[in-house]
Amino acid sequence: MSNKDIIKVDPDDIGYNTSANPTFESVLNARLNRRDFMKGSIGTGAMALFGGVTLSSLAGCMGDDSNAASSTAKLLGFTAVPKSLEDAVKLPSGYSFTVLNALGDPLRAATAAYKNDGTDDDYENRFGDHHDGIEYFGLSASGTPDPNSSERALIGLNHEATTDENITSYFLHANGGTTTLPRPASEVDKEMAIHGITVFEVKKTSGKFAYVRDSAFNFRIHQNTVVDIYGPARGHAMLKTKFDPTSQTTRGTLNNCGTGHTPWNTFVTNEENWAGYFTRSATDNAARESVSGYAKSVTSLNRYGRAQGATSRHRWERDGSEDKYARWDISLDTTKAADGSGDYRNELNNFGYIVEIDPYDKSKRARKRTALGRFAHENAAFAPVVAGKPVVMYSGDDARNEYMYKWVSTANWDPADANASDRLAVGNKYLDSGKLYVAIFKADGSGEWKELSFGVNGLNASNTLYPFADQADVCINSRLAGDAVGATKMDRPEWCAVHPVNGEVYLTLTNNSQRRLNPTGSQVAPDAANPRVYSDVRGTTTVNTGNVNGHIIRFKEAGGNHAATSFTWDVYLFGAEASAPGVINLSGLTHDQDFSSPDGLWFSYATKICWIETDDGAYTDVTNCMMLAALPGAVGDGGPITVSGTNVTTYMGKKPTADTLKRFLVGPKGCEITGVTESPDGKALFVNIQHPGENTSMALVKAGDPDAAKYESQWPSNIGYGAGKRPRSATIVITKNDGGLIGT
Ligand code: FEO
Ligand code: CA
Ligand code: CA
Ligand code: CA
Repeated sequence: MSNKDIIKVDPDDIGYNTSANPTFESVLNARLNRRDFMKGSIGTGAMALFGGVTLSSLAGCMGDDSNAASSTAKLLGFTAVPKSLEDAVKLPSGYSFTVLNALGDPLRAATAAYKNDGTDDDYENRFGDHHDGIEYFGLSASGTPDPNSSERALIGLNHEATTDENITSYFLHANGGTTTLPRPASEVDKEMAIHGITVFEVKKTSGKFAYVRDSAFNFRIHQNTVVDIYGPARGHAMLKTKFDPTSQTTRGTLNNCGTGHTPWNTFVTNEENWAGYFTRSATDNAARESVSGYAKSVTSLNRYGRAQGATSRHRWERDGSEDKYARWDISLDTTKAADGSGDYRNELNNFGYIVEIDPYDKSKRARKRTALGRFAHENAAFAPVVAGKPVVMYSGDDARNEYMYKWVSTANWDPADANASDRLAVGNKYLDSGKLYVAIFKADGSGEWKELSFGVNGLNASNTLYPFADQADVCINSRLAGDAVGATKMDRPEWCAVHPVNGEVYLTLTNNSQRRLNPTGSQVAPDAANPRVYSDVRGTTTVNTGNVNGHIIRFKEAGGNHAATSFTWDVYLFGAEASAPGVINLSGLTHDQDFSSPDGLWFSYATKICWIETDDGAYTDVTNCMMLAALPGAVGDGGPITVSGTNVTTYMGKKPTADTLKRFLVGPKGCEITGVTESPDGKALFVNIQHPGENTSMALVKAGDPDAAKYESQWPSNIGYGAGKRPRSATIVITKNDGGLIGT
């Protein structure tokens, strides 16, 4: 079997939602004529919220080439990049890129250059692995915050994971990781250090961005960094550990996937597939049921994917000989204090949050914002702030059949807070007190936000699914709260983004291997918002079934008010192979546009282009993962369709044209394209190439010299970047050769 034939098993393709809430909206409210509904929801208010936006500029964002940001250059004026299986970053002609940093690059002058042969150390002072979300924070020439600077900046960068699924990786360790247990401390220390985040300085030198190796601003957060707990769970008994019996601190932030940029210029990083790093003994249910107050934690652990007997992804617990390893074993030790202060029975409750970091001040600890809910947070998208209105943030839960959430702050936005010097204090104001909601997508194209507050919507001690004790319990168990209020099971919510002009919210639904027409077990039936079920057949072999290629849904809040509790939605785009039949390729994608498994999603503020990135395993026999540029229209610009095959009626946006959707980038072999940000002038785009060579056959590599050409990818060493041949996750900076806006 060649690497090309390997069908990638996505380590993020996880699902634990066995709740009974409906996937098809069986209880329709008064069935509204959609045309009337749309007319009514546009009504008044939409213009008011996005002050300064006029009807003509609103039209400008809907695929009209006269967009204000591009008066001299046509948006999407480049020639589409063909699909590619090359081990290279492919861009349109007229564009170039440089590698800004890669796994292992030093962040200090005193840290040795990266050898990339498995013998490197001091990873606490190097870039970590699996670059993911990324955010840009401008710096003035004198080193003070300047959001408008396109010359100098701090970059917040997530390091989600490492290519080490079976502990035999040659990517990181000299001769492959150790499979005998307990694993050597040196290997575990290295792996704990490459997870987390990096904040680093970039500066333009001779017109090109480069990172500043010895900048005093540079810092890492890894798994031994102390982090503060904020919000309702701060000080709560359910977070008590041996490390901090007061439940005010924990260590590390883990599996940092997407990111967010607050209106007050802090960096937020999202903990996604954190649960899999913890182990739980095969007899832990009985242990918990024997200790007063812990029986219900079994329900929570099962819902978050840690059934008893679960093994940890990397076996970081080792033999429990040191506290920094022991914490990865969350089994309840009946010989220890009943309140959990003597072991790590509660450690899982210290993960699963959105974490706020002040990129400009490394002396301040990061804060886990527990009010924003606990789940597999993909990213955090803030709505444009309006003086006197609440701060609103959206975040999806990326696992099969999980939910879409939003946060509405109690405090109303004060524009003075955008320039506050104590940025984390501003975070306390808008991210610790407010309401969390979960989405219900209805069959008539409308939707509802259900409030997840203790004592509301049946979220109380007598709830039959799970007895909620207080607001902290609701936040810690957001998924169970979502189950209890009948939230809609989605096809893996990945990134969301708010259109900077019309305020509509876009959400990628990457794929769902568990959608079935006639579901059994944990499978779910198609519904209006997740309407496709089909099979991907190569030759005569069915390689994938369900929603194979994913889609992008979008919604418009009622009255244009982000704090509203109702919305209308449609499907902006369906992913598909261009040659797939129309019943699958519903959006009519051409070979210049076709894609599978949308994941990263972000709107440029300079051009308003919607950038779509893929993390795919279904179409990778034809093309590596990619990034597309899009100029979407608006909710309701298409109409209802009935998907033959499932016979489900959904609402689909206007089909894209060659002028409104175009492939811009294809990555090297085995990579995911993820994370995107820009300099404020729109002339430099920062994009991450995650895990090139992910499908490397470890057996092949082990059979020979690990540095021989056995890796699926040798990027970026194959373009002369750095030592060694092992593939490395990296950030690239894309510029236009004529110095113009990216995407024109
Ligand atoms: Fe880390 Fe769902 O992607
Ligand atoms: Ca993702
Ligand atoms: Ca993904
Ligand atoms: Ca990945």
